[in-house]
Amino acid sequence: MHLHLKPVAMKDIDTFELAFSNREGASTYQWFGLTNYNSLRNAYTQRGALGGDENTLSIYYGSELVGRVDWFAKAWGRASTSKCWEIAVGILPTYRGRGFGISAQRLLVDYIFTHYPVHRVQVTTDPENKAELACIHKLGFTLEGRVRQGQWREGAWHDQLLFSLLRNEWELASPHELGEGE
Ligand SMILES: CC(C)(COP(=O)(O)OP(=O)(O)OC[C@H]1O[C@@H](n2cnc3c(N)ncnc32)[C@H](O)[C@@H]1OP(=O)(O)O)[C@@H](O)C(=O)NCCC(=O)NCCS
Repeated sequence: MHLHLKPVAMKDIDTFELAFSNREGASTYQWFGLTNYNSLRNAYTQRGALGGDENTLSIYYGSELVGRVDWFAKAWGRASTSKCWEIAVGILPTYRGRGFGISAQRLLVDYIFTHYPVHRVQVTTDPENKAELACIHKLGFTLEGRVRQGQWREGAWHDQLLFSLLRNEWELASPHELGEGE
């Protein structure tokens, strides 16, 4: 079977809301309390959740929905000249630990560098999020620094690690696969 990214469907959004609207489903590193999924539904209705500054694709393993990837516009300076994309991923709880997280992020990085004329992709995560850190390292991202107590989550401030991958690094490292099996 084949892991691939495809445009979100409304039923996918319903599944994300059900699965990620509690601490266990969201995971301790992504649990910020209840989220209003209507902004994603609106983005889907208006533009298929694509082609904007906040974008989402569903991750499918064959015909099974296994999670979502997102990418957000960020700028280190003027957006007109210094735009980059920040990626995020959420694998549905029952599908975690099967290689989907790393493969889906690889597909997303390939998608972004292939379809946008950008130079930089970045990602942040909690220093304790071992699974995401393993993904980030395998994808060839470089650690740039530690954002100290930048994130309020579950009653406390948490540090975040910032990583980046530049286009020339991706060109050297990536097999540019369009999809891959488990
Ligand atoms: C983080 C996440 C995307 C990883 O995806 P996944 O499909 O579970 O992970 P994978 O099976 O692709 O494994 C990737 C690596 O993490 C390691 N890993 C997986 N689960 C782990 C865990 N609980 N603890 C430590 N390492 C773990 C794997 O061994 C693998 O490394 P390896 O190839 O060196 O062995 C997924 O668990 C998830 O969606 N978590 C909740 C949301 C989240 O944290 N998103 C990232 C926010 S920044």
